[in-house]
Amino acid sequence: MAERTALVVGASRGLGLGLVKELVGRGWNVIATLRSPGTASGLTALAENSDGKVRIETLDLEKSSEIDALAKRLSNETLDLLFVNAGISLGRIKAAAATREDVARLFVTNTVAPIHVAEAFVDLMRDGTGVIAMMSSGLGSVSNNFRGSADLYSASKSALNKLTRGFAAGLGDRRLTVLSISPGWVRTDMGGPNAMLSVEESCKGVINVVETKAGTRAHGFYGHDGATVAW
Ligand SMILES: NC(=O)c1ccc[n+]([C@@H]2O[C@H](COP(=O)([O-])OP(=O)(O)OC[C@H]3O[C@@H](n4cnc5c(N)ncnc54)[C@H](OP(=O)(O)O)[C@@H]3O)[C@@H](O)[C@H]2O)c1
Repeated sequence: MAERTALVVGASRGLGLGLVKELVGRGWNVIATLRSPGTASGLTALAENSDGKVRIETLDLEKSSEIDALAKRLSNETLDLLFVNAGISLGRIKAAAATREDVARLFVTNTVAPIHVAEAFVDLMRDGTGVIAMMSSGLGSVSNNFRGSADLYSASKSALNKLTRGFAAGLGDRRLTVLSISPGWVRTDMGGPNAMLSVEESCKGVINVVETKAGTRAHGFYGHDGATVAW
């Protein structure tokens, strides 16, 4: 199989690091971003022992100039996969209790910056089989929201889905597949120790979805098990 290259944004730990491991295990080359150079010992060790398969770049989604600078640095690359994984949560805090600064940070990181990344890197995507994947959440489903928990976080992911659809709809003659992904409830710093899935289980399923859907050139919302998630 021809060499494939992925850019994983937000790979220092949790699902992002798991995605990098899963991709490398399947023979992909991976450019993995973190926001603090010198941190993320797991990713650093993986890169050092990867025979050049994993390369680390720096990107903080809160700094829009860093997104454009990275796109410029990587302008000679052809990407088979762009996976925007990074995200934050404000937990279960209610709108009235959240500071305006925290809400702004939530929506910049989870909603606006991922689309900025997609726009900045779209010209580097491989025509036909290229995949742009956004790490959404089952909580981003409006129609499945029966419990009303973590509503600010959920809304940031619903809005991400909406902007992702707009991005996909505006692709014109660029032949790409665009995915909104729900990874399941996963044992990470964000998901907590009681979550149902290990990082490995979730990431295996998520990359199965990416590889299966490549070339379909549509936008869909999928779980780690490949099932369609209601919008
Ligand atoms: N775990 C779950 O059950 C679950 C369920 C549904 C969806 N998700 C989504 O899956 C994604 C990964 O979650 P996780 O569970 O792996 O969370 P996590 O363990 O808290 O990791 C979050 C990742 O996002 C990065 N990040 C946060 N803010 C960033 C910024 N401004 N710029 C660049 N990177 C930034 C973090 O980097 P630092 O190390 O620098 O902080 C870290 O790599 C998120 O989008 C999350 O919303 C998770």
